Amino acid sequence: MGDIIAISDSRTGRTYTLPIENGTIRAMDLRQLKTGPDDFGLMTYDPAFMNTASCRSSISFIDGDKGILEYRGYPIEVLAENCNFLEVAYLLLFGNLPNGDELKGWVYEITHHSMLHESTKKFTEGIRYNAHPMSMLVSTVAALSAVYPDARDVQSADNRLLQIKRLIGKMPTIAAMSYRHSVGFPYVYPDNDLSYTENFMNMLWKMVEPKYVAHPMLARALDVLFILHADHEQNCSANAMRSVGSSLADPYLSIAAAAAALSGPLHGGANEEVIRMLDEIGTKENVYDYIRRVKDGHGRLMGFGHRIYKNYDPRAKIIKWIAEQVFEVTGRNSRLDIAMELERIALDDEYFVSRRLYPNVDFYSGIIYQAMGFRPEMFTVLFAIPRTVGWLAQWQEMLLDPEQKIARPRQIYTGQRMREYLPLEKRTPVHAMEEV
Ligand code: CMC
Repeated sequence: MGDIIAISDSRTGRTYTLPIENGTIRAMDLRQLKTGPDDFGLMTYDPAFMNTASCRSSISFIDGDKGILEYRGYPIEVLAENCNFLEVAYLLLFGNLPNGDELKGWVYEITHHSMLHESTKKFTEGIRYNAHPMSMLVSTVAALSAVYPDARDVQSADNRLLQIKRLIGKMPTIAAMSYRHSVGFPYVYPDNDLSYTENFMNMLWKMVEPKYVAHPMLARALDVLFILHADHEQNCSANAMRSVGSSLADPYLSIAAAAAALSGPLHGGANEEVIRMLDEIGTKENVYDYIRRVKDGHGRLMGFGHRIYKNYDPRAKIIKWIAEQVFEVTGRNSRLDIAMELERIALDDEYFVSRRLYPNVDFYSGIIYQAMGFRPEMFTVLFAIPRTVGWLAQWQEMLLDPEQKIARPRQIYTGQRMREYLPLEKRTPVHAMEEV
């Protein structure tokens, strides 16, 4: 017999035994705790999902206390050192690392889905040039839903795979097009001879040279950064992907929702905010004062803290290590010294120690991106490209999980009931204000 928990309901004097599985009880089992036949039954209240597992998943594993991240059972450090991004994408989506032939076929497929329909180009051209690149990305991905109406058939495995290839292939093209649109440069078409990251760099930065050649160290660094950002279990954007996808919306619209969730400064938008924060601090000497202000309740230390990690984010450790290699090529980003001083003081400060706040993935990534030539507004776009793989893996897992249904939380209603209707002429402004 498995573990059970006995719950005694002081309202009725009855005792219930509920099974415990994987360290959880089923919220639906609580429904049997009733005070009478008219009672709906007990619910759980968990704003922001602080203590609720919303699914079973075999994609990413995080041990937040130990600072461990694994994709499909492989430590992130091993994948970052030995694999390329598309290999890891294959692993996340299909569960195992590809062999040589599988990888060749997969790379070919993704590469041959990188072109955008010309109507998509026109759509992006219609967006104001000074829009944030994340707004352009979200809108353009959503617009692909109109280009590929066949994507609505989400129950077909073949069709899902086609859309998955299209999305992974086209995200760098959309991202690069958004950037070139914002600076007024002509769009660069994909080059099928190049690797995933080299081609992205080509579409971003090619000018009049006949063939763009990326610096191999920088292309590899970007590839590793893409691996680190590819998935992170049930974060805010993965949850948005699963939630929207659970209504059987097409994957372009679901990805647009996930990317929108990513854009917020508490999630993927934090990398852009870190650079703004470091610029606001200005010099190493100002770090102490800045931290004091944060402790006094003025803002947050961006790139610090995590819902799950109560230890150093393993991705931040790898990023720090790549930063040194990138700086050998690009020259040192002066913000690194401020960031390291910030980390040093914070990790020794009671406020941060007691709350177990450590640098997260966004703390050092922006410093590298900036040294490589990316503008801060592009940072979250650089997060969205690889995370598309994770979103798609989570989406597919959700669709294939027989326990999943349309996501539809409950609420505790706090408003009024059965109010008396007042005709328009009887309503006063004061009356309207009071009633809200
Ligand atoms: N700076 C200062 N104090 C903080 C910070 C921070 N960055 N993060 C959390 N705290 C404090 C918070 O004020 C609270 O203190 P108290 O208990 O006195 O009220 C305590 O730590 C717990 O914070 P919380 O807001 O309950 O934690 P959460 O799990 O809801 O939030 C977080 C997680 C990531 C949103 C938050 O740590 C944060 O806002 N960090 C800054 C933004 C950031 O770097 N986001 C990127 C997250 S990692 C990558 C990604 O998801 O995209």
